[in-house]
Parts: sequence; structure tokens; C-alpha cells
Amino acid sequence: MVPFHIDFVHVGFHYGELNIEDIMAFITEQKRTHYCTDLNISNKGEEVVLMGWIETRRDLGSMIFVDLRDRTGIAQVVFDPKLEGLADSKDLRNEFVVALSGIVNPRPEGMTNKSMKTGEIEIIVNKFEILSKAQTPPFKISDEKVGENLRLKYRYLDLRSKRLQDNLKLRHKVTSSVRNYLDAQGFLDVETPILYKSTPEGARDYLVPSRISEGEFYALPQSPQTLKQLLMIAGYDKYYQIARCFRDEDLRADRQPEFSQIDIEMSFVDQSDIQKMTEGLVKTLWKEFRGIEDVPIASMTYHEAMERFGCDKPDLRVDIELVDLANVVKGSGFKVFDDALAADGAVKAIAVSGCGEYSRGKLDKLTTLAKHHGAKGLVWIKSNKDSGELTSSVSKFFNAEKLEEIFNTVGAKKGDGVFIVADEYAKTCATLSALRLHLAKELNLLNASEDRFLWVTDFPLLDYDEDEDRWIAMHHPFTAPSDGDMDKMLSGSFNDIRKLKAKAYDLVCNGHEIAGGSVRIHRDEVQQAMFNLLGMSAEEIKSRFGFFIEALQYGTPPHGGIAWGLDRLIMILASTDAIRDVIAFPKTTKATDLMASAPSPVDTKQLDELHITLKS
Ligand code: AMO
Ligand code: AMP
Repeated sequence: MVPFHIDFVHVGFHYGELNIEDIMAFITEQKRTHYCTDLNISNKGEEVVLMGWIETRRDLGSMIFVDLRDRTGIAQVVFDPKLEGLADSKDLRNEFVVALSGIVNPRPEGMTNKSMKTGEIEIIVNKFEILSKAQTPPFKISDEKVGENLRLKYRYLDLRSKRLQDNLKLRHKVTSSVRNYLDAQGFLDVETPILYKSTPEGARDYLVPSRISEGEFYALPQSPQTLKQLLMIAGYDKYYQIARCFRDEDLRADRQPEFSQIDIEMSFVDQSDIQKMTEGLVKTLWKEFRGIEDVPIASMTYHEAMERFGCDKPDLRVDIELVDLANVVKGSGFKVFDDALAADGAVKAIAVSGCGEYSRGKLDKLTTLAKHHGAKGLVWIKSNKDSGELTSSVSKFFNAEKLEEIFNTVGAKKGDGVFIVADEYAKTCATLSALRLHLAKELNLLNASEDRFLWVTDFPLLDYDEDEDRWIAMHHPFTAPSDGDMDKMLSGSFNDIRKLKAKAYDLVCNGHEIAGGSVRIHRDEVQQAMFNLLGMSAEEIKSRFGFFIEALQYGTPPHGGIAWGLDRLIMILASTDAIRDVIAFPKTTKATDLMASAPSPVDTKQLDELHITLKS
């Protein structure tokens, strides 16, 4: 017998001895017969072998009751420490790992637990072994109120929770279902490299320095965009991949620096073929995971989405729409409105039920929120819920009839509040869109009982990047212009660059962009023209995309595709509001891993090998 010492001297903790030979003997001789939740009353009288973690333990002196947890859930096991070989059950603590054999027994009268899958039975232990001891965990696994940073530091403990286990199991099932759907349609799963070249999707690249090629860098793919198009050129026709993507951008609840896409590309197709294939996948998933027979999918153009909801990914579960007030307030003499309209801007409003009773403090907070989103202020009109009397932040600028006219134009009713923003079109839309969602949440106006899908189509080809002071591709630079705009783009004969449209489409669910794609440019001269339009020099085009433009010249079929944000899809199906909850080892909003402390400094030797000198 070789005693196996586990001695955590560094934390001043001594575990005593676990006998490794006894442990291995148990593991060798006794194979697990069931997972905890496989057991029910039909197993009555059977001898079973279980392995798992101690979730809770109640020591009643003569008997010790333990909730044993494994990947499937919990079963109650009962130890009598007086019996031979069971005395050590007194030492059991939370999160110890044990193997045991015992007899399945019905629980005594009155002791059954209907809310538990195994609530009718318990296992009377006849033999057991402590396989591994555990330090007192920093939090109780089932406690959901523990701060997220602590849970992220001990992610392997949080991953033991039912909540995260359910999410990861769901993720596995959804991914399998996606693969089955695509396999059945003849898609081929092809892996593409992670060490690659910059793939422009609008974010910063994560760079990897090369040791062998001094001063040169790989870029981790923001998506496999050029690679999947090269596969179409290579004749693979229908490609998919559950692809890891890397983007160095500001993070939010539905954005991680590395995330997964269900990346899809097809040849010899137009936009409607790709949309149909995508809708088939939506319907398959919602049938399997939501039990909905034929989930409806709405569609509207980008222009309509902006006009009605102020954003290109509207949450249709909120029944509030933007109303244009330009015609009603034109020439009113109120400088804020007049100036906005004179500068080709907009005056728009929303009506929200339940805001008629909002206090001055609450209205001031909404004004601060509007300013936070770039507006210069917020005009409000509120209606008393009993008398219908209107009060407003601009009563000194508008008489009662005009206020009433504005109130009615927005479609407001007694007890409602009306909120008006006057600014540049984009700022007006962005502010009201944010207020719409904020108020819907605050007043519980969001119908969370159903998922609302929407295609947004006919996106502008280009977008203006204020920070960089240049035009960028709104989707990405491989996206084809709409048929009507192709010649205009090629000849440069357009009046307003903003009006050029793209064959690009997004699938939105509950206000999240869950997939986005486009029909691609498949002719090299069009691709060249697109890069020119984006202001790239001939040299830059050659060094970044020369290989790609060359490839387009070797027989390129018309093609297009789409990529789903897999994490966002699972987030919605898991009914949670952060993708961190559906990723095994996520990063914080500062792009750090709190468990392993990444990123972290590296040895000077490593930097030397990579030819890197740090600035400070
Ligand atoms: P796009 O950039 O729209 O298109 O990305 C596709 C989908 O990926 C998801 N997504 C993200 N999910 C989590 N964290 C992020 N940081 C993140 N960024 C994007 C979104 C989005 O809809 N190559 C094109 C697709 C194509 O044209 O086929 C692309 O990557 O759900
Ligand atoms: P002022 O004349 O600046 O005191 O503004 C009168 C009201 O108009 C205040 O309630 C401001 O919050 C609001 N306001 C100012 N600028 C804007 C704007 N661009 N859009 C909407 N409301 C505004």
C-alpha cells in the first residue's frame, strides 16, 4: 500500500491521506452503472454504482444524507456511518468526489420530493470510496446570487451548476441539429486556418507575430470570409463550418472577442436561395427546441427598419414605433426643431403608454439617457391618466392646440408620454431606438413570451466611419451592389454615394443580429472597383487582397452566403441575455480571462525570439 499524500502546504491546508490503491481498486472493479438521474422507482432493489460530487450533506448523527451530483443532476444517497467501511462518510464535505455502490430504495412515506427527478428514491450505500477531496469552495455551486467576477475566476466550479450545464448541453444539441440540417442538404464541413491574413469585418485584428519571418504577423480571422469564397472558386459549391472568429472590438453582453459562427457559403445561388436555406434552419431549430411548428419570419428593408424603429435590428417584441413630426412642427418657431430641419435633419417621436405619470426626476433621467446617445436634449409631453391634460417641457414654445396636434400625430393616448428628438437623422434614430427599448423594459412593455424574427434587407453598400473619416463597406467589401447600382458603382456615376444599395441581409431575432450575409462580388473588375471606392491605394489592394483578386480571375461562380452568430443563437434558445452564459470559458467585457489571467506578460526570451521590443 502506497499512501498518497495530498498536501496543500502553500495554502496552509492539510488534507490527510487518501489511499491511491483503494481508489484505483474501486475504479477498476466497480464500473458506474447509472448517472444519478437515470434512476427512478423502477430500479427499486437494484444494486447500482454512482460516481459524482457532494452537492450537500446533512449529518443526522446516525444517518448521513447526501445529495450526489453528476452531469445529469442529483440523487439522494444515504450512509449509515456505523456500518463497516462507511465510517469515513463522517468526513464527507461539499464538492468531494466519491464513488459508491448501494441499493435503490423507495423513500419513506412523506419524504418524497416531487420537484426532483429522482425524488421518489434514495440509494442506501453499502460501499464507498472518497476519490478526491476538495477545498471549501469560494461559493455554493447552486447559489446564483454570487458576483460574476468570482464565478469567472472559478469558472470550473460555476460550470458544475445546473444552469451552465443545461446551457452547454443545449449548445451541443443545437450544434448537432445545425450539422444534421446542413449535412442533409449536401453541405461540406471544411476547416480553414486560424493563423491567416487580415479579413476585414470592421473590427481590429488580433495579431500573432511570426518567429520565422521577422517583423511579420499573422492575423486571426475576423471570419473565414475570403477563405469560404476561395472554396467556392475551388468548386466546393456548398460549404459550412462552425468557425471560431476573433475580433478586437468593444465588448457587450452579446459580443465576445472570440466567438463562433455557423459559417455558410453556396455557389450558383441568389439572395432568395440563401434566405430560404436559412429560414429552413430557423424553422427546424424552433420546432426542435421551442416546439413551434412554423415560426413566422417578417421582412423589411433597412430603410423601413430605420424609419419605423430607428435601428437596423429592431426588437419587434416592443410595440412602439417612431413617428416623423417634420410636417407638423415645420416653421413652428421653436429653434431646436427648426434648426434640425433646416440642416436636413429629422424631428421624430415615440409614444409610450404609462409615461403620463412620470415624475420630473424620471423625465430628467430620460433626458440624460438621450444625451448619452448623442442627442442634444429631449422634449417630452405627458398626459394625465385621469384628466388627459397635457404638460410638456416645451409648453412655453407651443400652445395647447399645437401640443395636442403633436400628441395625436404620434398616436398617443390618455396617460401616455411622448418623447421627441430633433437632430441629424442618424442621431435622432439612435436616440429614440435606445429610449424605445429602455422604456419597454422599464415599463414591462416587452412581450417576452414569443421570439420575433425579421429579415432586414437592402442595406446601403457603404457606411461613413466618423473616426477614420472615410467610407467603409457596411457589410464587408466582398458584398455585391444591388443590380440597379452595379453600373453606377463601376462608372462612378452616382449622385449620392449613400444611396448605393447592397445585396446584403441580416436575420434579427428579438433585437439581436443573429445572422448576416450577402451575395458576393464574383468578378475581379467589380472587386477592384469596390476597393477603389473604399479609397484603397493600388499598392494596398495588391498587398492585402492581390491573391484574392487574382483568384477571382480563374473561374468564379456566382456565390453568396451567410454567417450565424452561434453564441447569440444559443443565448436566445437558452433564454439568457449574455453570451457569456453559453460559452464554457468566456472573457470579461475587458477581454480578459479571470481564471487563467490572460492576457499576461511573457518572458523577454519569448519576445526576443519574436523580434519584439516593448515600448515601456
Ligand atoms: P458578420 O460580421 O455580420 O458577418 O457576423 C456574422 C454574425 O456573427 C455574430 N457576431 C458576433 N457574435 C459574438 N461576438 C461578436 N463579437 C460577434 N460579431 C459578430 C453576429 C453576426 O450576425 N463573413 C460575414 C458573413 C457573411 O457575409 O457570410 C460576417 O462575419 O450574430
Ligand atoms: P432649450 O431651449 O435648450 O432649453 O430646450 C428646450 C427643451 O428642448 C428641453 O427640454 C431640451 O431638453 C429640449 N431639447 C434641446 N435640444 C433638443 C433636441 N435636439 N432634440 C430634442 N429636444 C431637445
